[in-house]
Amino acid sequence: MIQRRSRDSGSAAPAALLAVLLLTLVAATVYIFAARVYPAPSPITANALLVDRQNNLTLYVTGAVFIFTQLGLAYAVWRFRDRGQRASYSRGNNALEVLWTSIVVVAFLTLGILGRKAWADVRLTQPASGAIQVEVTGSQFVFTFRYPGPDGKFGRLDPRLINAPAGNPLGLDPNDPRGKDDIVAASLTVPVGRPVELLIRSQDVVHNFFVRELRLQQDAVPGMVIPLHFTADRIGRYEIVCTQLCGLGHSQMYSSLNVVSEQAYEDFLKHQAALQ
Ligand code: CUA
Repeated sequence: MIQRRSRDSGSAAPAALLAVLLLTLVAATVYIFAARVYPAPSPITANALLVDRQNNLTLYVTGAVFIFTQLGLAYAVWRFRDRGQRASYSRGNNALEVLWTSIVVVAFLTLGILGRKAWADVRLTQPASGAIQVEVTGSQFVFTFRYPGPDGKFGRLDPRLINAPAGNPLGLDPNDPRGKDDIVAASLTVPVGRPVELLIRSQDVVHNFFVRELRLQQDAVPGMVIPLHFTADRIGRYEIVCTQLCGLGHSQMYSSLNVVSEQAYEDFLKHQAALQ
């Protein structure tokens, strides 16, 4: 018996190693976030600022929980290490289980309710009156943008008329007078400071419209037209990427969002109209 106890008198090394590993993991993670090693590009809409604020709040809350629980785990690993003692069995504590589950539920619900505005503002509310409408169509593997032209109305589309090589990638019906002035372009150009409403659709599989600076990411789903609106307040050229794995050419599926002055926007429309 004495022999056995001395042989199994525990070992501090694995516990110490694991605890140090956990501390290192916590320190490295906190450093990556705190030092902003991978900073997001600056937001260019008021809504994107809201999204950032919400994201930061979520990071602070979940970050605090992460640090607290990992340090607790490191402490427990060390404190309850094998010292050759008999293991004791614990049935747990129902009151504590209920307490911390409730805390998690309340925290998640609160974050969800606080974040609702940032999410709903661009999706569930109407854009300001006079918003510029642009239809965004995802297809393997390009984005195509359509402006309604001076009449403000989009012409009818007929899937049977889709013929990209012949210059009709969307299948515009030539017999619809509303479509005569429609402008089809390969990139998205919008004037700075003006509300824009995007109508997002897909021609084939699920794609995604994502612009980091807008903090907007929206699936393009076949059979649906999904509205999304924003007002960009900084002139510049930003990347639009597809973020749904949509086929072999997925990684090549990108375009650009050009936020330009009012004058440059008018010039763009004139130039494009001449090209149609
Ligand atoms: Cu379209 Cu990925």
